[in-house]
Amino acid sequence: MKILVTGGTGYIGSHTVVKLLEQNYEVVIVDDLSNSEESVLDAIKEITGKQPLFYQFDLCDSVKVAELFTEHKDIQAIIHFAASKAVGESVQNPLKYYRNNLDSLINLLYQMEQHSISNMVFSSSCTVYGQPDKLPVTEQTPFKPAESPYGNTKQVGEEILRDTTNAIDQIQAIALRYFNPVGAHESALIGELPKGVPNNLVPFITQTAAGEREQLSIFGSDYDTHDGTAMRDYIHVVDLADAHVIALERLLDTKQKSSFEFFNLGTGNGCTVLETVKKFEEVSGVQLNYKLTDRRPGDVEKIYADTSFANKELGWSAKLGLGDMMASAWKWQKRISKID
Ligand code: NAD
Ligand code: WQD
Repeated sequence: MKILVTGGTGYIGSHTVVKLLEQNYEVVIVDDLSNSEESVLDAIKEITGKQPLFYQFDLCDSVKVAELFTEHKDIQAIIHFAASKAVGESVQNPLKYYRNNLDSLINLLYQMEQHSISNMVFSSSCTVYGQPDKLPVTEQTPFKPAESPYGNTKQVGEEILRDTTNAIDQIQAIALRYFNPVGAHESALIGELPKGVPNNLVPFITQTAAGEREQLSIFGSDYDTHDGTAMRDYIHVVDLADAHVIALERLLDTKQKSSFEFFNLGTGNGCTVLETVKKFEEVSGVQLNYKLTDRRPGDVEKIYADTSFANKELGWSAKLGLGDMMASAWKWQKRISKID
């Protein structure tokens, strides 16, 4: 069974490719390496003993996308990770985000129609909810106006999927709304490789612990949470990877209940920034240099998932806790920073 994984050398994509290969799927990766390295393919091979087929090109190039599907007429499903994901950059350069994230999706859907391919799993995000009025947030919570062009590409991406699956009988899709993916594969051979200064909390924590950043700024200590710092639902990337295989198989086995479904993927546990830092210190044994600073513009105060729909319908729940997330992120950081 041949599966196209776009963005398959990226952070979440590479962990999912490992799961797919371990379950004997044939994997074709397309990635333009705009935010990942070709060496990830070697790491995937080292973990699984298998080499996925790899094409390096930009999915906004409709001619190249068409050629790929002509060459691989037996693709059964697409897991579409490829997108630009830096929230701040999307505010500075919205057209890059609208073009990259939407053109790539449209090109793929167009080829699905041309080649009668039925199944797509799409990377969505909890960012579609903004700051929900009620927590935990369920899939039925209406979207708030997006806080960033990036967030808007995920809202519009889901709308494109809804309209397309309504209009074209043969196409069905599942959008997975990830909360805050963190951690790395247990081998520490693949993990998150942020380019430049990380925006996200956990890479900033591990780089600070590794001595690559002087100090972690904790953005905001006056939020309405028990310790004043913002609350998120961190989810281990390996748990996320499992959910992709389950969603894929739901589509392949035509078990879905409508042509477009969407699921929250989180642990259901809200964790504050300070709790995350403390857990990191506990599992790593490293004392972190941090200070409390002003809030970061655009941040929501607290969000965590109601996961009951994914638990019931997908039969999936997160198995790994915050300690596993921090320990694996630290193991990965130590490997890439060459710390014993
Ligand atoms: P990532 O940047 O590590 O992976 C994305 C991959 O897609 C990269 O390897 C990049 O080179 C590739 N890519 C980007 N644009 C491309 C294009 N036009 N053509 C071909 N390849 C292209 O990001 P990730 O964290 O693995 O995220 C995967 C998906 O999940 C994205 O759609 C992202 O928006 C979404 N998501 C991520 C998070 C998160 O915090 N990591 C949270 C929610 C949703
Ligand atoms: C988590 C918490 C920060 C860095 C982002 C995207 C979202 C989704 C997931 C893709 C916040 C605080 C952070 C630092 C800090 N991605 N923090 N010091 O903002 O919840 O979500 O990634 O879809 O769209 O917006 O994640 O890891 O940046 O921040 O105090 O140096 O850590 O203020 O409260 P966020 P994050």
